[in-house]
Parts: sequence; structure tokens; C-alpha cells
Amino acid sequence: MKNKLSSLEMKLSVWCAETFASCFPEMDLSALQIGVIPSRNEQFGDCQCETAMKLAKELKSNPRVIAQRFSEKAVLPDFVEKIEIAGPGFINIHLKTTGIAAQLDAMQFDESLGLPDIGNGQTVIIDYSSPNIAKPMHIGHIRSTVIGNALDRLYRALGYNVIADNHLGDWGTQFGLIILGYREFADQEALRTAPVEELERIYVKSYTLSKEDENWRDRAKAELVKLQQGDPENRALWEKFVELTLGEFNRIYKRLDVSFDLYRGESFYNDHLSGVIDLLNEKNLLEESDGALICNLEADGLNVAIVRKSDGGYNYTTTDIATVLARTEEFKPAEIIYVTDERQQLHFKQFFHICRKLGIPTKLTHVWFGLMRLPEATFSTREGNVIKLEALLDEAEARALDIVKQSSPEMNEIQQREVARAVGIGAVKYTDLSQNPQSLVTFTWEKALAMDGNSAPYLQYAYARIASVRDKYADKFPGINPEDYPIVINEEIERRLALKLTRFPASVETAAKLDRPSILADYLYDLSQAYSSFYQNVPFLKAKEGVRESRIRICTLTAAILKKGLSLLGIETPERI
Ligand code: ARG
Repeated sequence: MKNKLSSLEMKLSVWCAETFASCFPEMDLSALQIGVIPSRNEQFGDCQCETAMKLAKELKSNPRVIAQRFSEKAVLPDFVEKIEIAGPGFINIHLKTTGIAAQLDAMQFDESLGLPDIGNGQTVIIDYSSPNIAKPMHIGHIRSTVIGNALDRLYRALGYNVIADNHLGDWGTQFGLIILGYREFADQEALRTAPVEELERIYVKSYTLSKEDENWRDRAKAELVKLQQGDPENRALWEKFVELTLGEFNRIYKRLDVSFDLYRGESFYNDHLSGVIDLLNEKNLLEESDGALICNLEADGLNVAIVRKSDGGYNYTTTDIATVLARTEEFKPAEIIYVTDERQQLHFKQFFHICRKLGIPTKLTHVWFGLMRLPEATFSTREGNVIKLEALLDEAEARALDIVKQSSPEMNEIQQREVARAVGIGAVKYTDLSQNPQSLVTFTWEKALAMDGNSAPYLQYAYARIASVRDKYADKFPGINPEDYPIVINEEIERRLALKLTRFPASVETAAKLDRPSILADYLYDLSQAYSSFYQNVPFLKAKEGVRESRIRICTLTAAILKKGLSLLGIETPERI
């Protein structure tokens, strides 16, 4: 790890681990994951350590006695006021207010605001968005795009070498149907104006025909075989479908400020598929069933996964195994993270299990989320859970523009539109990111655009207001640099905010470790509330010299953390709203 600023939690965790080690020198404590968490209640101090309880279980002894021993051995770090043993054996830690102030001071001068470099250059591949060619993105892809991109930003900020890979669904039997349908009934005008919609129409019509008409089915199959054998005409058509679809998707990615390092769809691994079958065979993982080849995972409660259909075609599991093999060889990632909706849980369990049986060392993680509910009245253009994302973003921006026009009537129209864009897109993203991803979320405009609740506009507005305090200070006290004064914490309410500020790095780290951007969103919302009660209750510009500068510094740091935190969620922070 590079020599970077450590958070208070990090320093305390190291200190607790060392102290426990000196209490039990004969024991290996490395598996215990000794750490501290914020105290649930202020009267129990600022942080607490629960290790005595874990250790007591292992030693079959009394946790309070263990905590007592800890407290006798402990040499307090200079930023700790005192420790207390409470309840069954909690070690409650009270920090010195000057210690908190010193941490804020260091964070302010640290360009990453204290974020640790836990990645240390390790590679993490994040497979997200991954929509299908010739089909519109559905709500699952949109959530994958927004959540995956937040993880991408979080991991990068923590020093990982992230490879964002868009694993497009660009191969499979549907292309025989689309090629045939395209030749027979494509509407060129529609392909120009709404290509993905038209490709989908072609597919649905061709698919329906194939169900009714054996001849149609055979012709589609023949087109597919030609495509697979590299026939130049079919290949060119397929490329055209990919290009048309990506043209539309890229417009969406641009609006969402999402970009990928790789666009390697399923087709990229096509030549590797028969090798996967050979490998599975070699490892005795294959069985035949009605002419198909399967991996039987029933003994592990995971049913069976078909890896080659009876007609010789390969499927999703086979491609995903080929993809892991290729990625592992080329990039040697420490982890591959897949972000999809909940309906794919069994697929990922099965294929992770097969990968483990194949001895693939890479850590594989499936981050799944529930589908978002979109009440009938939310959008004018909607069919099932396929929504026109662009229409949604347009509507978000239009609604945000109404808000901006009201809040900043003096701003010129161009600026108003620019701010409305940041607010509208931010609102859509934040709604997605601020919820526990695994719960059912209902999207409403009232919530997404609320100025007084846990929403992007609320946080963006808080940021703009905080940033403006600094401007007011500069107007009133020109030429004075608040950073020349120390941070001093006098009031209880000020201490509460300061402590919250020191927790920014830990919240980012936890959000990444648990793959839950909502943890960072919750933190930012809490922070802005702590700031708001601070701001309402203590004087700023009217405070006496020194106190005033310290408060301006705390205010500046709060703004910096809100800006950085929101940027890690992919949300912009205009200077004025
Ligand atoms: N294209 C798939 C779908 O739309 C998602 C792919 C996710 N990534 C993967 N490696 N399986 O359902």
C-alpha cells in the first residue's frame, strides 16, 4: 500500500489488532478481522470494537474479562481520550476532539480526501450494462448501467485497476431470424429514425413466423449457419445490426457519462466455445442428456446447466465460461464482478460453481438487484418493463428545468438548461443508487426530484449552498486564507459534523467492499443533514476571528466531500442551482 493518509477507523483497527496481539501473544488472530465501527449511540463514545466477543467465543471465556485485559494492556493513541468497557464486552472508544480536528486538517490537504489505496493496482473486471444487440435496453440493463458504473468509479477511486467490460449479447440463434426478416421486410426509413425499435420489430415478426411456418424456420436456420461460417454478406449484415444498435446505446451512455474500456460481446468468444466443451470433458464434468451436453450440478443443489444443445448450439453458460478463461489469462484479474438483475441468479451460481470445479482461481461475484417498478403513469412510452430510456431522461431534464427556473430565475437560459441536465440525470441515477439494490423500488418523480428528501437535487442543492458560503466569506474578508488558521472544534454540533466528515473514506470503502453504492448515498445524505443543523445553529461569518476561519474550513471540506462522493456515484454538482 502506498503511503497515504489513514482514516481514524483504520488507525484504530491497527491499534486494536496490535493491542489484542499483545494480550494474546500465543494466538494467531489474523482470521478475526479486528476492526472498529461507529458507535450506534453517542453516549457510548465515537467508535466501538466488538472483537472481545468474537474472541470469547473462540476461547470459550468471558468477553468482559477479555475486554478488561485489553484495557489494562492498552496504550492509548494520541487522538484517543479514553476507552470504556460496556455491556457484554464492547470496547467503547472516545476520541479527542483535537484528534478529530487534526484528521480533518490532514484530509483537507490530501488530494483524495483520505481515500485509501486498498486496490494497490490489482485488476478488477466489472462486467456491466451488457445489453443485447437488436433489442432495446430494458430496465434491468439501465439499472446495471447505473449501479455498475458507480462500482466502477468506487473501485477506481480506491486504487484498483478497473476494466469496465460491456459484454454485449451480440451472438446467437436470433441473428438467423433477424437476417432473414431484414431481407424480407425491413423498413429502411424506420431503420434510420429508430433503428433498435425497427430491428426488434423485425425480430419479433420473424420469430412469430418461425413458430407457424416450418419453411421460414429452415430458412432462418440456413442464414444462421451462413453467418456462423463467416459468409461475408451475412457477416456484413450482422455488423450493421451491431453498429446501428450501438449507435443508439452510445447516445445513452454519453448522456449518463458512462464509458467502457472494452466492448467484448459474446461473439468475441465464439471460437473458444468448443474448447470449453473439451475442457469440461477432460475434467469429467460432462453428461449427455437427450442429445445435449450438460453439467449436472444436482448434487450441489444447482440443477443442471446445458452447455451444448442437442442441435449443437452452445449457450449462455458456455460463453460465460469461455469469457472467464480468456479474461483470466489475458488480464489476471483479482476479481470479476457481474452486475445484472435478480433473474440471473441461478445462471451465475451454476457457472461460478463450474468455474471453481475447473480450478479457476479468480474471485467471481454476482451483484444482483431487483427490478424497479415504474407505475403506469410514470412514462408515456412504455411497454412492459421496456422503457424508452431517452424519453425518461428527457422528461427528467424537463422537470428539473422547471425547478431550476424557479430557484434561479436570474440565471440565463443556457445555464439553466445545463444545470437542469445535471439535476435531471442525477435524479434518475440517484434514485437507482440510493436504495438497497435488492429491494423492490418504485420510481416516482416526486421522490426522484424532491428538494427536501434523500434525492440528488437535495444533495446538489446542499452542495451549491455550502460552496456559496465560501464565496461570501471571500467577499467579506478578501485576501485572507482560512487554511492559514487551525481547525478548532468548540460546539457539540460541530463535533458531530466533524466526526461524520472523518468517516468519508470508511463509507467509500464499505460501499465498495459490499458492492453497495447505497452505503455511500446514505452517508452523503446523513452528512448533508449534519451540516444543515450545524449551519443553522452556529454563526459563521459573524463568529470571531479564528472560529470563523475554522468553520469556513469545515464548510469547505463538507463541500469537497459531497462533490467527490456524488462524483463517485456518477452525479455532477453544479456550483449553482
Ligand atoms: N446480455 C445479458 C442480458 O441482457 C447480460 C450479460 C451479463 N454478463 C454476463 N457475462 N453474463 O441478459
